[in-house]
This record gives sequence, C-alpha cells and structure tokens, in this order.
Amino acid sequence: MKITVVGTGYVGLVTGACLAEMGNHVVCLDLDARKIEILNNGGIPIHEPGLLEVVQRNAKGGRLEFTTDVDAAVAHGTVQFIAVGTPPDEDGSADLKYVLAAARAIGERMTDYKVIVDKSTVPVGTADKVHAAVAEALAARGETMEFSVVSNPEFLKEGAAVEDFMRPDRIIVGAEDERAILLMRSIYAPFVRNRDRLLVMDLRSAEFTKYAANAMLATRISFMNELSRLAERVGADIEWVRQGIGSDPRIGTHFLYPGAGYGGSCFPKDVKALVRSGAEVGLNLGVLEAVEAANERQKQVLVEKVVARFGADLSGRRFAMWGLAFKPGTDDMREAPSRVIVADLIARGAEVVAYDPVAMEEAQRVMPGQAGLRYAASAPETLPGADALLIVTEWKEFRSPDFDAIRAQLKQPLVFDGRNLFEPIDMAQLGIEYHAIGRPAPKRA
Ligand code: UDX
Repeated sequence: MKITVVGTGYVGLVTGACLAEMGNHVVCLDLDARKIEILNNGGIPIHEPGLLEVVQRNAKGGRLEFTTDVDAAVAHGTVQFIAVGTPPDEDGSADLKYVLAAARAIGERMTDYKVIVDKSTVPVGTADKVHAAVAEALAARGETMEFSVVSNPEFLKEGAAVEDFMRPDRIIVGAEDERAILLMRSIYAPFVRNRDRLLVMDLRSAEFTKYAANAMLATRISFMNELSRLAERVGADIEWVRQGIGSDPRIGTHFLYPGAGYGGSCFPKDVKALVRSGAEVGLNLGVLEAVEAANERQKQVLVEKVVARFGADLSGRRFAMWGLAFKPGTDDMREAPSRVIVADLIARGAEVVAYDPVAMEEAQRVMPGQAGLRYAASAPETLPGADALLIVTEWKEFRSPDFDAIRAQLKQPLVFDGRNLFEPIDMAQLGIEYHAIGRPAPKRA
C-alpha cells in the first residue's frame, strides 16, 4: 500500500519505518530540512534502539523515502498519517496548529480518495476539526472529493518504540466509515496475529482512549510516589509494599515504581491536556490535578533529601549526578526530573558534575550555559571530590557500579538514589550511606 507519514519525530519515524518493514511503500514528509537530510544520509535524528537498522534496511530496499516536498508526499499515499507535534499551549491544552496545517496541506492538493489518519495525540473532537480543515481546503479549490478521517493513537514507549509498534498490545482505530476501516484493517493485519487486538471504535472514543491510558499510568506513578513519602515517615518499605500490592492481578505489577517523578513527552502533557479539557466543559478533574501536583513535588524529592542531610545552603558543595534523560534508553530531556534537580542544586549554590550515556548533548541544548553544571565522560569520572552521588535515571550501566570507587572517590560514601537501584541492606554492608525512595532511612555512617 502507498502510505505517507507527515512528521518524522518519534511517532512518525517509527510508524513510517515499521510500515515499510511490512512491505508498504512509505514516504515520510517533514518540513525540517535538517531532519530529512540526516535521514537521506542514512542516519536518524533521534536515539531509539533498533530504529536505525529498520530505517536503513527499508530505505535501501526503496520502500522508505524521506522528503520535504509537500506536493509529492500528498500525491503519494492513499493513506496519510499525521504524526506531527502537539505541544501544550500556555494553558495546557494541546496546540493543534501543526495537525491542522497538515490537514489543510492535504486538502489543498489531493486529487483522489484519501484516508487521513491522526496518529498524534490529539484531544477529543480533533478528527472533526481535521475533517473540517480538509473540506474547507477542498471547497476553496471548488472541489468535492471523498475522504475519510481516522483516529489511530500511538502507544509506543521511547526506548522500546520499534518493539511496541511491531508487537502491539492493542491497536486502536477510531473510524466511522467502512472504506476507511477496511484499509486500516489491512495495514495492521501483519502486526496483530490475534485479531481481537485491533479495536475499531468511534472517533471520539479512540481519541479519548489515548489520554485515558496515559493519565491512568501517570496516576499509578504519582500514587506510588505519594505512598513512598508516607512509607518513609511511618517506617515501611515501599518496595515490599509495591510487590505486595502488585501481585494482586486487579492491580498488576507494571508502572508501580516510585522514583524521582515522571517526565517525557507524553505523561506531563497529556495529564495537563485532560485537566484542561475538563475545565472547558465545566468539569473539575481533581484526581488528575493532584496527579500533576504530586509529580511536580516528586521532582524535588532528591533535593529535599540532600537538604535534609546538608542543610538548605549548598554553597561549596559538589554533587555527582548519574542520568539526565527522563528515562533510560533515550536522549529525550523533555520534562526530565534531572532538569529540576540540576536547577535546584545550583540555585542553592552547589556544583553538579553529570554523566548520561546518551543525553548529554541534548542536556546541553536544553540547559545551555548553565553555570555550575559540568559534564563528565563517564560515570566514575563524576565522582572525585563530590559530596554525594545522585542517581536520577536507571540506566543499566548504573546498576552494578564499582562500589569501591564510589566509597574511595566521594568525600564521604553517600548516595541519593532516585530510582531504587540497590538494596539498603547491601549498601549498609558496603559502608555506604544510602538514601532511596520510600525505603527505611539509613543510619549515618
Ligand atoms: C508513555 C507511555 O508509556 C506510552 O504508551 C505513550 O505512547 C507515551 O507515553 P514514554 O513517555 O516513552 O511512554 O515513557 P514511559 O516508559 O511510559 O515512562 C514515562 C515516565 O514515567 C518516565 O519518566 C519513567 O521514569 C516514569 N515511570 C514509569 C515511573 O516513574 N515509574 C514507573 O513505574 C514507570
């Protein structure tokens, strides 16, 4: 099938590459010439495990092309996926200007039937707006032409995006006409061995499902983060509690890990957007407001622990920091807790020496000229002379560090772990003062 994907961000590029992998002829359009140049030179503009191989294989096979040429891209695909950004407005609602611009661009140029698929996370009702934008653009040309609008939200996780796309838990298709439903079923047939995994529903429910899923997951995390604070105060260990409740199948084990707060491009934005949608129709979504507020608080939990240990004034102190990305497996710094932690520590007069396996370049871009922040070439190189080590992202390489080096090179053996990588009992045996999330407070060494 001939498919066009508009937007080569995480969602667009993974969608385009994986659809080409299944034998479709895919053209990816982006207005950012820099991105298209990288892609046409055999690279990818983001860090995503396994994606480069899929992109290169399919580009070589002639099934995957990249262009900035809007005319050619619209002419190509019977199915046009819109996978452009929906950044939050100042008030938290999703900004649809890129989605609607893509819809207009299609309407201005199409010469035959198209299925226009919203892949971006967009608020309920957007499909109607996309429909209107295409119809208006057609009318301006004095044309009437058949087209369908479909909602097909993407659930991929950064760091596991290719795997998630190739082996989805479910595929949600919101569509209201048979022609479009048939086309979508045939595109996704190779991805769903179990046909029940393709859920076809009305447009608004499909749009809503994406927000509901992310809001539920964010809620679980904020809930656990809040419980972890209480566990610390009452002398319980949240890691036992997590296992204790997670073994109830009604609760399940996933997304119950307390930490330094959630970040990324989806949870923060989608929770805000849902709260905003509620406000627009006069509904106060108090649970979700609390989820967001708890997350903002949680981003400060590590600094609160540092302040409890060293006092509010951190001038003259230096901290080693492991991890900058909002989670492992990505260089994405959007809404990363590390940004709040770095800013807080520096505002209190401290210096930070940070290391991240892939996100340091991106960190420099989003925190330019941050005085007091330096980067080290490896995790051990952050340590010499630092007052303590802070672990912010749970990269695999941080899970079995050289504890002797931590002990020998820090000013004192002191670790603040925002991701609960180690057992307090082991750390005590190693002679390391270990502050984790929601776990019993250590005795001072
Ligand atoms: C998320 C959704 O999982 C995905 O389905 C959707 O399409 C996009 O948003 P992503 O943002 O890539 O994906 O990351 P995810 O792995 O879900 O993690 C989000 C954040 O939650 C990270 O900051 C992570 O550290 C945090 N998290 C996750 C926790 O703090 N605890 C957990 O138990 C799980």
